[in-house]
Amino acid sequence: MWNEILSKLESKYGQSSMNRVHKMLTETPKDKKSRHPWQNGAKYILPNLSERMVMELEDYPEFSQAGDRFGDKHSRIRDEILGYLDRTGRPETHGGYGTLEGDQWRVVFLNRIGRDEAKVVPSFPETMGYIRSCAPILYPIAGISFSVLEPGAHITPHCDRTNVFIHFHQSVIAPSGCGLKVGDRELVFEEKKSYLFDPSFVHEAWNRSAYNRIHLILPVWHPGITHPEREALTEIFSILRELSGGRMEA
Ligand SMILES: [Fe+2]
Repeated sequence: MWNEILSKLESKYGQSSMNRVHKMLTETPKDKKSRHPWQNGAKYILPNLSERMVMELEDYPEFSQAGDRFGDKHSRIRDEILGYLDRTGRPETHGGYGTLEGDQWRVVFLNRIGRDEAKVVPSFPETMGYIRSCAPILYPIAGISFSVLEPGAHITPHCDRTNVFIHFHQSVIAPSGCGLKVGDRELVFEEKKSYLFDPSFVHEAWNRSAYNRIHLILPVWHPGITHPEREALTEIFSILRELSGGRMEA
């Protein structure tokens, strides 16, 4: 199944264009030893990407500009999510896929796997305008959501499935006592600021404050992935998601 997809793209982009995608799909236990040890729990690692667990926005103009746009719109985006929570109450549980102590990780999805949530998006004109302005960097087959970490929440250390997309966190409300650790690097959030990290590295998050921590999380392509690879990975991960019954973390 994969060979058909990859040979089609090899004839379009050149024989070596899909080498890393082949390697990702055929990784052996021996290959796995060459991964960074903090990526051991991930399932699909595209090889030879940067091993930066946390990326600095200023190193990537597209992320740095998006971070600036978020900063400019922060108060309007914050008012939209707070108004929505006032009207609709406690959001749905994230579930956590086995990584959560308790049930205090809540989410408001704006988009699931490339499709806007029709009942939700009319409440978020500013937020959706911001998200649309980020279209060129978005990974199209994961969810876009406000992540609401309630007091006492603890997402325990885990690796996400892959390094093909990374997390772009926009900090909407960040009480002190909230944080996130990726590998050995701890991030302390500041409202209005944006953070970029590779969730294939072991990470955990917590809220030890008495208030909700609210982030807008955009899944974005890892900046080291080429456009032909993006084309292949979009097809491959869409199929993997179908096969896994549409689970959001695939
Ligand atoms: Fe995660």
